[in-house]
Amino acid sequence: MTKASAPGKIILFGEHAVVYGEPALAVPVTQVQAEVRIDKIFSPGIRLNAPSIQLNEKLEALAPTHPLAATVRNTLHALETEPPSSIAILIRSSIPVASGLGSGAAVSVAIIRALAKHMKKTLTDEQVSALAFETEKLYHGTPSGIDNTVITYAKPVYFVKDQPIELLHVKKAFAIVIGDTGVPASTKESVRDVRVQHHKKPERYETLFAAIGSIVKTARQLIESGMPESFGPLMDENHALLRSMKVSSPELDNLVEAARKAGALGAKMSGGGRGGNMIALVPPGKSGAVSRALKEAGAVNTIVTKVA
Ligand code: PMV
Repeated sequence: MTKASAPGKIILFGEHAVVYGEPALAVPVTQVQAEVRIDKIFSPGIRLNAPSIQLNEKLEALAPTHPLAATVRNTLHALETEPPSSIAILIRSSIPVASGLGSGAAVSVAIIRALAKHMKKTLTDEQVSALAFETEKLYHGTPSGIDNTVITYAKPVYFVKDQPIELLHVKKAFAIVIGDTGVPASTKESVRDVRVQHHKKPERYETLFAAIGSIVKTARQLIESGMPESFGPLMDENHALLRSMKVSSPELDNLVEAARKAGALGAKMSGGGRGGNMIALVPPGKSGAVSRALKEAGAVNTIVTKVA
């Protein structure tokens, strides 16, 4: 039996603009995980079993564009070995899907690492991330690559599309409360809608992207110089910019407002938007109050995560 796991993630700053070359900050969320287990079985071939999506099929029965099957096939190709026979790949995840927490990328990374381990081969983080990126394209169309990067390295990152990874050095730990609207939302659609708007109003959207990019750079400085409590207002500004890009939603705005009222230093949607999760920066001792306020305002779940 072989096992591998991968964490969820949140985008602190810079979603959407990152698709257009601006930087973004993302951190892993270890409270939620994707887990993959490979077992030997009697019947020949490779069986994929993902109970949460009612999938229990032979690999050969799945289309080339099926994200899980594609991940397995691409990984076996990259490992340059004879495909294993008589194995079952069991995929489980506590990361809510379509919610901005990177569930797709985490499942990919866990499958890739479990397969490599099973075949007694080593893949570098760069190779793992590149393989997961191939699957991200199937999920999202034109992903920036931020999800597969932060999840593969499992460390806070300063990410710029098509650039080598830069780690984000968190000088002083800070706490983030994550609130789930419970509304599933497609990142593919929100990214596509932004693309359409960008096409219609290129100047306006270029200005919005650049404004987000400069927020990201300032936030990075604050985090790397040990002043995390001062980036709250930047979250509020980033949220306002995302609202004007029409990727927020009434549910997200409502939770963002509730977090601020309960004492958060700043709050914003996180990820593709239109639903999914929002995040709030909380001062020491306030995470319980902010979590409670989020639940009272309709959050289906909250997670408190410490970024260090
Ligand atoms: O919804 P998520 O967590 O997959 O985040 C997507 C982030 C975007 O910037 C909206 C898209 C991307 O590929 O970077």
